[in-house]
Amino acid sequence: MSGNDLKGWTRRRLMHTLGGAAGLVAMAPLSACSGRTRSGSDGTADEQPLAIPPLEQGLKIDGERQFDLTLQSGEKTFGGDRLSSTIGINAPYLGPTLQLRRGERVRFDVQNELQESATIHWHGFELPAVADGGPHQLIRPGERWSPSFEVRQRASLYWYHSHLHRGAGPQVYAGLAAPIYIRDDEEDRLDLPSEYGVDDIPLIVQDRILGGSGQLVYPQGMHARMMGVRGDRIFVNGTENAVFDAQTGQLRLRLLNGSNARFYDFALDGNQSMQLIASDGGLLDRPHAVRSVRLAPGERAQIVIDLSEGRPLRLVARSAENEMGMMGGGMMGRGMMDRGNGRDRSSQMFRILDIRPAGSTRTAALPERLATLATLDPSLAVRTRRFVLDMGMMGGGMTINGQTMDMDVINERVPVGQWEIWEIANASMMAHPFHIHNVQFRVIDRDGRSPPPMETGFKDTVVVNPREQVRVLLRFEENTDPDLPYMYHCHILEHEDAGMMGQFTVVRN
Ligand code: C2O
Ligand code: CU
Ligand code: CU
Repeated sequence: MSGNDLKGWTRRRLMHTLGGAAGLVAMAPLSACSGRTRSGSDGTADEQPLAIPPLEQGLKIDGERQFDLTLQSGEKTFGGDRLSSTIGINAPYLGPTLQLRRGERVRFDVQNELQESATIHWHGFELPAVADGGPHQLIRPGERWSPSFEVRQRASLYWYHSHLHRGAGPQVYAGLAAPIYIRDDEEDRLDLPSEYGVDDIPLIVQDRILGGSGQLVYPQGMHARMMGVRGDRIFVNGTENAVFDAQTGQLRLRLLNGSNARFYDFALDGNQSMQLIASDGGLLDRPHAVRSVRLAPGERAQIVIDLSEGRPLRLVARSAENEMGMMGGGMMGRGMMDRGNGRDRSSQMFRILDIRPAGSTRTAALPERLATLATLDPSLAVRTRRFVLDMGMMGGGMTINGQTMDMDVINERVPVGQWEIWEIANASMMAHPFHIHNVQFRVIDRDGRSPPPMETGFKDTVVVNPREQVRVLLRFEENTDPDLPYMYHCHILEHEDAGMMGQFTVVRN
């Protein structure tokens, strides 16, 4: 572990809690002694200490930060005693949090020890197409893939996950996903809570369907393809009913909706406000007091919550309506909706994390200004591209501009360095989180209305509601490749797998 060059980092503490150099252990509770675990009578473990992925800082060799990542199969109990087959990165399920620094070069040696092909995509990164880890960068069983690139992003929470053509859904569901932290000087100067696992916590929120004896189930039917796979059991970093014992008066939570299809409205029980400080691509201009944060699959947000009163808090999530509101009595009909896993109700409240403060503690106020974001100027754009998302009847025809994903077709050729408006319209009756590779964009408007606080910063994934049109301003800054494409797609993984995806190259003018 080489992290001594990182400012503001309590290295000794991490060495202690993470078991020294063994950063590559399975997801283990950070402080096993502090969590009470008891089992409910139904066999469902209640109140588990929150698992926190080990922090992996790689090794700095010849000015390049290098990581060894092994895609491996594993086993995990999700509920009951039954073991489920899983996939992980250096772990049986999920993987370590990779910590990178803006401006440095990184290299990942990704070894595929699975029995199946896979890819690893660096979600939210600007990088050469050959390093993107999309469907074209297939890693066959036994093979190794070693992309390297310069970290250009602002400090934030990103993630890495499978992007296998027609197979991202099941692989991510089985565990092939994990967080990435990028740190930078701009953020370090602000003195935000940033001690990993102590007052700076990643929360990968994922829903799962468990069978009768607690085994992981990935449904394949028409309902699942259409609506996306949505479970009724919520796991945070792989932990159900997670509890976190906070030692500090302020807690920074980095939320990642790593679910295949479910949308969440995160809130504190009791309607207490929280400070929203960052979106997908880094800090907002200032903290925004909010009562809830909506995240669709692929989206991230960072919130700071105040524990100074010493009262326990519960982070909950209402699962937002993504239900084709009009479809209930229409095209699909009630019977169809119920056929999924049988418990797929339209609005449910989920418990995400119980936070137990150590006692009342004094806290410092957050800085009034977090970042200086360039003024959003749509007049910079020299052209507009339009993308219409649609889904056909009965799970077929997931399309963008009438086409389903074809590995051999480049849908768009975009000149490097050119400001463009991408206008994304949703012709279907279900919301889609639209994600664009190789860029952090700004949201101009939704049907002409200016976006909410969460969308005032940098984004790489944006929800487009039914019948809505969202305009974003973007520019691909640097990397070009005449042949190898990047993807844009719906981040509901079953929609992506079914073809709601297109390819673009970034080319020289
Ligand atoms: Cu997070 Cu193209 O994916
Ligand atoms: Cu991506
Ligand atoms: Cu979709």
